Amino acid sequence: MRKHITVMALMGLMALTSYAGSNSPTVYKSVGGKKAITAVVDEFVGRVAADNRINGFFKDTASDPARLAKFKKNLVDQICQATGGPCKYTGKDMKTAHAGMGISSNDFSALVEDLVATLDKFHVKDQDKNALLGALGPMKGDIVEK
Ligand code: HEM
Repeated sequence: MRKHITVMALMGLMALTSYAGSNSPTVYKSVGGKKAITAVVDEFVGRVAADNRINGFFKDTASDPARLAKFKKNLVDQICQATGGPCKYTGKDMKTAHAGMGISSNDFSALVEDLVATLDKFHVKDQDKNALLGALGPMKGDIVEK
């Protein structure tokens, strides 16, 4: 299992670096930079908040505007950094951030579904979509607890 996760992590990294490193612009630039990523995160968080399968996890987050703003900023920084942008993610590591929440594999899939729907709405190119999903996929092992 651990080996599988490591291989997935490497594949995600390779997908990003091969694309970002080979004279082509970074995924960050290709999707439209920080402004576009901020719009994606706003839409994504809106979809998660409306998704009855998983919005129970975000009850406290959604009801506290300062907490919600910080959560969104962390997501923007994380995606910006993961796609080769000039941001630094300063939030918790994924294992610490989700410890004790009891997130299941189905919960994780629902969230990824909401993200894909968001990326499709913004017409993010397949190549960029796959690079981003390839970077987030390997985090599953740190987030899912059951
Ligand atoms: C690849 C998938 C995921 C990524 C990249 C991700 C990313 C993050 C980040 C960056 C934070 C903020 C950490 C901090 O406060 O320092 C966070 C917190 C959180 N995540 Fe996730 N997450 C993922 C999956 C999930 C899933 C599947 C759920 C539940 C269905 C979930 C529920 C939460 C909750 C409830 C918080 C706390 C929000 C708050 O601070 O109020 N996450 N996540």
